[in-house]
Amino acid sequence: MVKIAPSILSADFAKLGEDIVAIDKAGADFIHIDVMDGNYVPNISIGLPVIKSIRKYTEKTFDVHLMIEEPGRFIDDFIAVGADLITVHYEADRHVDRTIQYIKSKGIKAGIVLNPGTPVSMIKDLIPALDMVLIMSVNPGFGGQKFIEYSLNKIAEVKELSEKYNKELLIQVDGGIDASNIKKVVDAGANVIVAGSAVFKDGKVEENIAALRKSLK
Ligand code: DX5
Ligand code: ZN
Repeated sequence: MVKIAPSILSADFAKLGEDIVAIDKAGADFIHIDVMDGNYVPNISIGLPVIKSIRKYTEKTFDVHLMIEEPGRFIDDFIAVGADLITVHYEADRHVDRTIQYIKSKGIKAGIVLNPGTPVSMIKDLIPALDMVLIMSVNPGFGGQKFIEYSLNKIAEVKELSEKYNKELLIQVDGGIDASNIKKVVDAGANVIVAGSAVFKDGKVEENIAALRKSLK
């Protein structure tokens, strides 16, 4: 079963609690939380206090996508505010293996994110230790960008590695996914789909999530 992870970056931050309840009710599997530091990526989003305040609105998995420099410095803090799964960018962490081991030692799930320009081969050796690989299908920093087509090859490559080395691996794809292209992303091997603008479009969260699921049939 493919998991849907709405990205709250496209939610209305003035009523974030309500929007979280809406995606929970509409059947979101994970709540995808984009943390940006204005340094690793050219945008600033939300951080620890906001995550702490929304934790009470849902029991769904908090899937925290860290777009910050040297994310290893903040793992304990994100766990303390309720992260269930933390992904760190391969490119942002000098010691990504150490960070992954640290996250797992704390009893939550760990994943690595690959930017469009980063080859899958960089993380081959880490696949057995990972709970998730997140393939960026846009350059990180903003919602509403266009899906990069060559991501499909990278998804297939990760899928192949997962068949060989880690059958339980979650393969997540993030950026530019909507009802028109979700099927090919899943057919390439993804099993967790992030969608921001496609979920929150026109405020019709329930219809939008249903449309994504329908496109998978
Ligand atoms: C981009 C973020 C995404 C973004 C996706 O840096 O990681 O999660 O919110 O938004 P859409 O689905 O609109 O491309
Ligand atoms: Zn994201």
